[in-house]
Amino acid sequence: MAETRTAAHSAIAIRRWDEVARPDQLGAALDAIFFEASGTKSFASEEVRAAFRERWLGRYLVQHPQWAYLAMAPDGTIAGYLVGALGEGSGFDDFATAAQQYPAHLHVNLAPHYRSQGIGAELIEAFAKDAARAGAKGMHVVTSADARNMRFYERVGFQPRARTTVNGRELVFLGRRL
Ligand SMILES: CC(C)(COP(=O)(O)OP(=O)(O)OC[C@H]1O[C@@H](n2cnc3c(N)ncnc32)[C@H](O)[C@@H]1OP(=O)(O)O)[C@@H](O)C(=O)NCCC(=O)NCCS
Repeated sequence: MAETRTAAHSAIAIRRWDEVARPDQLGAALDAIFFEASGTKSFASEEVRAAFRERWLGRYLVQHPQWAYLAMAPDGTIAGYLVGALGEGSGFDDFATAAQQYPAHLHVNLAPHYRSQGIGAELIEAFAKDAARAGAKGMHVVTSADARNMRFYERVGFQPRARTTVNGRELVFLGRRL
């Protein structure tokens, strides 16, 4: 199905969140992609669910809108997004030292239909280019050691730099120089 994949990919445009008209109307689309992609599927309460969304998605859109990107189909459908920040840590104390070398960080998710067509790499490169231009010397992501996306991150230039275990799950800090 290579032809279909190429056609779908070539129609996708990478746009900056703060340059898209009425980004406030896109919140529900991003939430849907975020919760579908998340490994956490059940929450003790609505408050816990809202706090989870705030930690991994919401606060980036509010505090760092200039570092958020959308992958958009021609009809305005959101294929995926990347949110990031230049300087703050990614929320894991054990990675504070590693984060000094790779201070920018990001979270990227695509809707299932749009995966494995190179769109994730385009979102990463858009962020990397802008972060480098803004003076960041490196960027990082954190994922699970056994996650399929490890291969994706290594292919787009990240390398494992630190590991820790949180709640019995091995997490990997992957860094890429800019
Ligand atoms: C990870 C992701 C952003 C990569 O973007 P992409 O455009 O699909 O990536 P590419 O087409 O450049 O490369 C394909 C690679 O993406 C990753 N990928 C594809 N589908 C995936 C899925 N359902 N879950 C996790 N990783 C996936 C794999 O590493 C795949 O390589 P493989 O086929 O050798 O396993 C995207 O697949 C995705 O959103 N996956 C689910 C959510 C996720 O894992 N987000 C990152 C959280 S840290």
